Amino acid sequence: MPSKIIPSRRTENVTYAVRDIVVLAKKTAATGKEMMWLNIGDPLKYDFATPQHMIDAVNKGMNNGFNGYSDSSGIDEALVAIRKRAESQGIKNIQDIVITNGGSEAIEICLTSILNPGDNILTPLPGYPLYEAIINKLEGEEIGYVLDEENDWQPNIADMEAKINDKTKGIVLINPNNPTGSVCGRETLMQIIELARKHNLVIYSDEIYDKLLFDDAEHISIASLADDVCFVTFNGLSKNYMVPGWRIGWAIMSGPKEITQDYVEAVNKFTRARLCSNHPMQFAIAPALDGPQDHIKEAISKLEKRRDICVEKLNAIDGISCVKPKGAFYAFPKIEREVDDKKWVEGLIEETGVVTVHGSGFGVPGHFRIVLLPDEETLEKACNAIAEYMKKY
Ligand SMILES: Cc1ncc(COP(=O)(O)O)c(C=O)c1O
Repeated sequence: MPSKIIPSRRTENVTYAVRDIVVLAKKTAATGKEMMWLNIGDPLKYDFATPQHMIDAVNKGMNNGFNGYSDSSGIDEALVAIRKRAESQGIKNIQDIVITNGGSEAIEICLTSILNPGDNILTPLPGYPLYEAIINKLEGEEIGYVLDEENDWQPNIADMEAKINDKTKGIVLINPNNPTGSVCGRETLMQIIELARKHNLVIYSDEIYDKLLFDDAEHISIASLADDVCFVTFNGLSKNYMVPGWRIGWAIMSGPKEITQDYVEAVNKFTRARLCSNHPMQFAIAPALDGPQDHIKEAISKLEKRRDICVEKLNAIDGISCVKPKGAFYAFPKIEREVDDKKWVEGLIEETGVVTVHGSGFGVPGHFRIVLLPDEETLEKACNAIAEYMKKY
């Protein structure tokens, strides 16, 4: 008789709260309860659609026979479009670009190419849980730095600096941030660059939501602010261009050639080893970046209204406070009571059918994340249900 298969130690700490919570939500839905899904960062689950010209471009790619492997870094016309956009954002000294299966694979390849076991990377708290999962897998250490809720969730530079040690290899910035919707200001970005310069760190800037900005928020790509530091900028089609299922992302590596070249080659080794990203979908990159951006304007106008409803209604609830998001499509309200946030979220699902994600899943307990994607009526109803649920706390 074969004995039990033992999973690797690496898998022990891997959690992904956003999907884990769905298990309970599905069970609750199966009882016939009306559900309000405020947990999924996928615009296509709501009233947002993929621009038709992008679908046409992919179909054309398939019909023209581009169904084999592509070059490992991606197809030329897409690489040219990504470079053009990055340069228009002011990113200097671009050394290389690789197109990947979603931003997720770019993150995985680029972190794998820097970390040895025992090394650490600074990541935002709250932040996107994939970073923790990958760093754990690499037997590195994820060290969280604080985003200040009282300061619009901006990175706390003193905290960041205090956490840097001789094993620190890089700083991750998520801008606009998931789960807070905050957008980083120029001053703060300059201070992060100063730290990277002083301690010889790579800055990993995840800008996957950079076109989804509210009011007059300005997004500055941190790599545009210096030419002497190594930057890796992550972006992709998933969120700005409403195709998360196509799995198209990329990494832009920039900085002086002398300091970046070995790292760039290391990233390319992994990029080659996994062959390529989805070939036909890459044909949508240039039309997306260079073509009409109307769907973004429409999305922002919907999201601003939805954000205003949520922020106003949540702040009116006794025991909840919510910083106004400036971008992406999330809000990260605080539960101003002594609660276990996971139990609070589970109770909310079971009693009201409102599905959110607990803050501890993003590294900051005592909060929950909602998405601003559902229609206004659903959001109003969900906020009313949260108000009712809070009465017992
Ligand atoms: C901050 C952040 N980075 C990366 C990703 C992954 O994006 P992709 O679908 O391109 O893999 C997400 C997805 O939710 C995200 O929120």
